[in-house]
Amino acid sequence: MTTTVITNIGSLVTNDPAVGEGPLGLVEGAALVLDGDRVAWAGPAAQAPDADRRVDAEGRAVLPGFVDSHSHLVFAGDRTAEFNARMSGQPYKAGGIRTTVAATRAATDAELSANVARYLREALRQGTTTFETKSGYGLTVEDEARALRIAAEHTDEVTYLGAHIVSPDHADDPAAYVDLVTGPMLDACAPYARWVDVFCEKGAFDGDQARAILTAGMAKGLLPRIHANQLSYGPGVQLAVELDAASADHCTHLTDADVDALASGNTVATLLPGAEFSTRAQWPDARRLLDAGVTVALSTDCNPGSSFTSSVPFCVALAVRDMGMTPDEAVWSATAGGAAALRRTDVGRLSAGARADLAFLDAPSHVHLAYRPGVPLVSEVWRGGVRVV
Ligand code: NIG
Ligand code: FE
Repeated sequence: MTTTVITNIGSLVTNDPAVGEGPLGLVEGAALVLDGDRVAWAGPAAQAPDADRRVDAEGRAVLPGFVDSHSHLVFAGDRTAEFNARMSGQPYKAGGIRTTVAATRAATDAELSANVARYLREALRQGTTTFETKSGYGLTVEDEARALRIAAEHTDEVTYLGAHIVSPDHADDPAAYVDLVTGPMLDACAPYARWVDVFCEKGAFDGDQARAILTAGMAKGLLPRIHANQLSYGPGVQLAVELDAASADHCTHLTDADVDALASGNTVATLLPGAEFSTRAQWPDARRLLDAGVTVALSTDCNPGSSFTSSVPFCVALAVRDMGMTPDEAVWSATAGGAAALRRTDVGRLSAGARADLAFLDAPSHVHLAYRPGVPLVSEVWRGGVRVV
């Protein structure tokens, strides 16, 4: 196996407090040694062991590739008209999902796969090296299974979201749709997925339905995660903690009991500021969660309705400006936090044994991601020890 030493790194985020300063495990004037697809060593350049090949980082900051633990990329069409209406004062409604369901059902497999590849490439160029993605725009047995089969061609982190909304074909009989989602649709989808998810919200699925959907998925070996407390207060967050879900996603409307539940369990709160930005909704209160000791992840929620951004750096900037996070906290949440939300320990950090997924910034430190919003600072990306951007 060829070893590589990357020297002359401005500031290195390892997310390993045993390697450097603070929770980010920051090392100034750092070097990294890679062995094949893994990190073999991280630390001050002066102490770096020798390697077969040398790469000069030219003083740029290096951080772990972003871990985007929440996106909806298997879709066709877009919702420009809905966005225009929203920016003229209309509220966001989950019912817009039906527009994308119709377009997605009408698309060919090749069109859907090309769409996923296009947005993954877009995300990769902005430093994302691990991505989760979901079904949820098919809502029939065949269309959901096809979405997951296509997603699985592009990533290992695949989530079954047959319970995105009640299918328009079952509008008069939601109970029959829940039976489908927990029965034949689950049987067809489980082989392609690692996770099961449900949109627990007024107008989508209530707490009892969400519990039935998640526990059915768990009985088939899927791990639970949930869209919770996005548009209103509700039972989703506490259900997530009760079921030991890896993540409760959105967490925009939280009671004190919700925050206490998150602080007492293992469920990560994944915040998705692209959604609040693009729906002009109230920001999730990251500060309140962090002060309570909750593990927070930051992700894009990339989808054509509520958050059509694939940019984690944009979400980092929003979280710092509007959600009370420090730049250090936001960068941790977009890397190590995302990994925790996917129950992964091989990504989201850069210390011995981690996958060699690196984002280089045209800047001396990670702080510039928030300090210089909207600037394409990610200048080079490596995945599994190989340069990909
Ligand atoms: O995470 N909340 C539910 N699902 C998506 C929105 C999907 C859409 O509007 O198409 C979300 O925001
Ligand atoms: Fe979502």
